Amino acid sequence: MPSSSAIAPVSGAQDRPPLHGVAGFEAVTTTSGDLDDAFFRQMVSSMRNGVLAITREGAVAVMNAEAYRIFGLRPDPSNLGRAYADVLRMHPDIVRVLASAFELSHLPNRQELRLKATGKVIGYTLSQVRDEDQAVTGAALFFKDLTRVEQLEERERLRDRLATLGEMAASMAHELKNPLAGIEVMAGLLRRKVPDSPDAQSLVTDIINEAKLANATVVEVLDYVRPVRLETERTSLTSVLHDAVTMADGKARRGAIGVDLAVPEDLPQIHGDHRQLCQVFTNLVINAFEAMNGRGRVAIAAHTASIEVEHGAHGEAPGTVIVVDVSDDGPGVPPELADRIFNPFFTTKAQGSGLGLAIVRKIVDAHDGRIDLRSAPGEGTRFTVTLPVTGSDGQWFT
Ligand SMILES: Nc1ncnc2c1ncn2[C@@H]1O[C@H](COP(=O)(O)OP(=O)(O)OP(=O)(O)O)[C@@H](O)[C@H]1O
Ligand SMILES: [Mg+2]
Repeated sequence: MPSSSAIAPVSGAQDRPPLHGVAGFEAVTTTSGDLDDAFFRQMVSSMRNGVLAITREGAVAVMNAEAYRIFGLRPDPSNLGRAYADVLRMHPDIVRVLASAFELSHLPNRQELRLKATGKVIGYTLSQVRDEDQAVTGAALFFKDLTRVEQLEERERLRDRLATLGEMAASMAHELKNPLAGIEVMAGLLRRKVPDSPDAQSLVTDIINEAKLANATVVEVLDYVRPVRLETERTSLTSVLHDAVTMADGKARRGAIGVDLAVPEDLPQIHGDHRQLCQVFTNLVINAFEAMNGRGRVAIAAHTASIEVEHGAHGEAPGTVIVVDVSDDGPGVPPELADRIFNPFFTTKAQGSGLGLAIVRKIVDAHDGRIDLRSAPGEGTRFTVTLPVTGSDGQWFT
């Protein structure tokens, strides 16, 4: 039986266009006469990988549900037969990859690409579709959403980096703690010895204050490098956010900066450490205050969302998350610094320790959450903290 006739139209199959040029399908069907067009259609549509095939003429031949999802498009059967460059116009990067299928002699296998329009990272393989005479009749793109995998890897890398840095910082901090305490005590004794010299008194007081400042930094470093131990409980993010604003107010110069807090009343409670979550948002609000020079607005908004189902990826289950945005209309973070601001000790401030955001990330990580930054110079800064509602035991709090 010639392979091309193996996809026998079953009843009603005439209404649907055949699977144009999907490589290998005809060949496989020769193994079983029962496997028909409908089966392959269903197989492709239920695949957990994105599948997109085009004809040599540039028309979309196959686009499955996962492909629509990854591309952020609404599934629409009328796209079949339309020019792929038109259907995928919001993804010029994919259009370029597909076009290259007819130009390159070595097609990419297992390459990665970040979709500019959605920020999703995909891993893809591009194949040519050939007929029995080996003539190229189309191209097929098989791809997988790697965004979550990439985020987890990034987190792992950060953990490794922080572990090494942390060990170094911890031993330095321990070494410094005792001499600093010694300086403070001895300067205190010295002050008593010079009761009649106001100049000497004032110098010694300066020494004590500087030693105190240095000690506070050491304490902060030790606080940072110590592993996070969460004391989790049912926590209301609404009260966390209110407390954070009050604390930030007390710690940083706010001036005339307005704060808008928009939290829905039915925000579910989460499984978290109230005190440490408070520190997360206090640090973010303090940074916003410090960036804005006494003028402008800080907006804090929370909402619930569902995280995507990641089939098989690290066994993660879908669930509800709370997304908190802390935005300011300050100067923004220059793009060349965006990758570095979460690093411990990175600061652009004369008095900063550069540990604020590193601590934020550590605490968010310990809650199995994540933090993203969106900023452009002159357009303000937005930190988005995403925290799971469920506890590590999988219990739901509502
Ligand atoms: N809202 C923001 N707007 C502009 N830049 C920001 C903002 N938040 C953070 N940054 C930048 O990120 C850097 C690191 O922030 P981080 O909170 O880690 O340290 P810091 O604020 O400098 O010092 P510390 O928090 O320890 O006092 C800041 O120095 C600043 O350059
Ligand atoms: Mg800070």
